[in-house]
Amino acid sequence: MTEPTGKITVEAIRAMKGQVPVAALTVYDYAMAKLVDRCCVPLMLVGDSLGMVVLGLPDTTEVTMGDMLHHTRAAARAEPQALLVADLPADSYGTPDSAAANARRLADVGAEAVKAEGGLVISEQVRAIVGAGIPFLGHLGMLPQQVKREGGYKIKGRQADEATALRNDANALVDAGAFAIVLELVEPAVAAELTAALPVPTIGIGSGPDCDGQILVTTDLWATSPDYIPKHVQPNEAVRGEMEKAITDWKNGMSN
Ligand code: KIV
Repeated sequence: MTEPTGKITVEAIRAMKGQVPVAALTVYDYAMAKLVDRCCVPLMLVGDSLGMVVLGLPDTTEVTMGDMLHHTRAAARAEPQALLVADLPADSYGTPDSAAANARRLADVGAEAVKAEGGLVISEQVRAIVGAGIPFLGHLGMLPQQVKREGGYKIKGRQADEATALRNDANALVDAGAFAIVLELVEPAVAAELTAALPVPTIGIGSGPDCDGQILVTTDLWATSPDYIPKHVQPNEAVRGEMEKAITDWKNGMSN
């Protein structure tokens, strides 16, 4: 199979498992979605990481449905070839009814699928979302929306009980209808094991090289995230350098 071209569907992402690495990047607005789409990245996420890299919040826990709707609507106006996924923010999917209703609100502004964090504990919510006809992308491992409860961003799966929980959570998400699962900061050996065992693609972030795909916060890749770039990213410093140079050159040569 070659890299998919044309409109990317959930089925196309699923079919990439074991065939083509799934590249995925975050986008937060129209301009970014246009730019990333020109590079034929098959999956774009309007991530709630926008809390930190766009809105200047300390973490993702204060991102609201209003924020996600605003940014998803803007990204969707790019009408990308990529599959456009949007994050359900913290506290928006506490019950199956609220999960399905908020997923519908994101779909109504252009999201083609939604993502939420957790496994077994949200499996009824996932069933409700999928039952409402909205494709669901799982998110396991380190869960940024739980950062306050967890006391930091910690690697998951190093302890045997954590690895067992990850297996159970991944199976619960697949049973509930997830079409792929993001694995964030999962011990690489466990991520590799899950990738081999699961029937749907795993998309890693800081989880080693053996996932079916990789996802990054795009501003981390560009080295333009304002406050912090995680250790697992190798940012392309030249991007920020060129941006700063363009601004400085313009400022120094301003004529009107
Ligand atoms: O919000 C986000 O950016 C994410 C990451 C997995 C990329 O969820």
